[in-house]
Amino acid sequence: MTNVFSLTGKTILVTGASSGLGKQTALTASGQGAQVVITGRNPEKLNETFKHLDPGAKHSIHQQVVADLTLHSAIDELTGRLPVLNGVVFSVGISGLLPTKFLTGKEIEKNFNTSFNSAVLMMASLQKKKKLQNQRCSVVFISSISTRYPFVGGAMYISAKAALEAYARVLALELSPRGIRVNCVSPGFVRGPMLDQTQEQLSGEVIAKIDERQPLGIGEPEDVANTIVFFLSDASRWITGTNLFLGGG
Ligand SMILES: NC(=O)c1ccc[n+]([C@@H]2O[C@H](COP(=O)([O-])OP(=O)(O)OC[C@H]3O[C@@H](n4cnc5c(N)ncnc54)[C@H](OP(=O)(O)O)[C@@H]3O)[C@@H](O)[C@H]2O)c1
Repeated sequence: MTNVFSLTGKTILVTGASSGLGKQTALTASGQGAQVVITGRNPEKLNETFKHLDPGAKHSIHQQVVADLTLHSAIDELTGRLPVLNGVVFSVGISGLLPTKFLTGKEIEKNFNTSFNSAVLMMASLQKKKKLQNQRCSVVFISSISTRYPFVGGAMYISAKAALEAYARVLALELSPRGIRVNCVSPGFVRGPMLDQTQEQLSGEVIAKIDERQPLGIGEPEDVANTIVFFLSDASRWITGTNLFLGGG
């Protein structure tokens, strides 16, 4: 029987693969047979992911590329080196809390450059360089459940994610004639470095409230990675322009 969830024969780019959800997505995707190209800023952490990738099929050769995706030159260099892709996962992100009263141009720039501009410019470059396979290609953006259930201090993080969701809907429309699908997954809080960092900035009381608000509690990186693999696979070939909230909404 054909396994419609298999990624065998597909080449997938995973950004933010040196940590957390991107790392788990790269590992799970390689376990499902994908050849993956992983990217992140920190070479040691990226190599750690690389070492644990499933060796996969005989002909799959995984690649790792260190790149700061807030730099246009790095995006250009990365996309120039890439093979034609069957899937792209954007897991780049930064956390940080700041009340609206203290927001500055620098803060807006930092958040949007990392979470929004990097994805938009990467997609432009991939299209111009013809690096997206027509038919059965899938692009997945990781947004956040906070665009629906915001938290105090999250104005820039959440605004950048909301912009990404809107952008993804337009991209889905533009790429649908080529059979390329575009979807978002929007997780609630997931265990990992980003949650640890947020925990340092919020009181235990606030974290407990967030946990309570998530009907299925705090998630594991695998919960997000498995969902992304579904969106990358042909099992979701009739789904585009959606945003799936994970953790119970
Ligand atoms: N964890 C959660 O609870 C949660 C919930 C909802 C949504 N999300 C979203 O899921 C995504 C992944 O989160 P995570 O928990 O995996 O976070 P994480 O563990 O902090 O990982 C973030 C990744 O983004 C990379 N990155 C950051 N800035 C970059 C830049 N300028 N250029 C290239 N790469 C950059 C990091 O690379 P280096 O480490 O190499 O610098 C790292 O690989 C984010 O978009 C986040 O907003 C997370």
